[in-house]
Amino acid sequence: MRKQITIIGSTNVDFITRTERLPAMGESVLGGVFLQTFGGKGANQAVAVARAGGEGIFVTALGDDLYAPVLCETFTQAGLDTRHILHRAGMSCGTALVMIDREGHNYLSVASGANAALLPEDVDARRDLIAASALLVLQMEIPSASTARAIALAAEEGTPVLLNYAPVFDDTLPLSPAIHVLVVNEVEASALSGMDIISLDDARRAAAALRRQGPRAVIITLGADGALLDGAEGQAHVPAFPITPIDTTGAGDTFCGALAVALVEGQPLATAARFASAAAALSVTRLGAQPSIPWRREIDMKCEE
Ligand code: RIB
Repeated sequence: MRKQITIIGSTNVDFITRTERLPAMGESVLGGVFLQTFGGKGANQAVAVARAGGEGIFVTALGDDLYAPVLCETFTQAGLDTRHILHRAGMSCGTALVMIDREGHNYLSVASGANAALLPEDVDARRDLIAASALLVLQMEIPSASTARAIALAAEEGTPVLLNYAPVFDDTLPLSPAIHVLVVNEVEASALSGMDIISLDDARRAAAALRRQGPRAVIITLGADGALLDGAEGQAHVPAFPITPIDTTGAGDTFCGALAVALVEGQPLATAARFASAAAALSVTRLGAQPSIPWRREIDMKCEE
């Protein structure tokens, strides 16, 4: 039985400030704390897969700056297969600037660096890897043509795809039945469906509308309001685990990585989403994207609450 989970996506170096409140445009807010850590939606999801107990293979593009060897070492330490990491000469690694307030809300801007050089031909060269995978996990911080190519190859090879359509900066990637599970937050769901999402009923309507565009299952994550699922078994609401948030950065990535592991283990969608919610809840109680991603034993304990 195939067990490996291939994650194709971005890696960033995150520079995080946490201040009492977020600044208005042109304003400076003093008195914060600073943390430099590693992130990127692809990397966060890959680390989340490994910490949740999955066999993760990470395909990403790094530059040749000072961060590249440290990032590689971090992925190896996390237990990921790093043989498919690409190195782009003369480029920097992706960089993200993250501002967080005391309630955990964030502003985020990204300079793509080497992530923009993970190209469709790099994906083509990994057809065998995709074919051998139990699940392919994708997000939207590399060129959308590369993500589209990965989805097409997975469809040809019969490999299921979990697509986290985040961020919705470029919305030209079409939804299709080749996507087995689409995961979006309410902002992304709203952008992709064209529907406002204020209430749970709005989320129900948006999830149904997105599913009509092709994906076999849709999950809309709603922060403190949990997650709304729309799949073959109908719709279901998974309540959030009550927590006091410190930093929501990377919570969606943690959700996706843990969800991927649970699905490959054969858990039904609703059970897998609860496992993923437990992982995401743990992650928002800590600062930083990758440092906050929980390990399997913590997730299992949370699920028992
Ligand atoms: O989803 C969170 C991630 O988005 C951060 O780690 C940052 O790097 C950006 O890519």
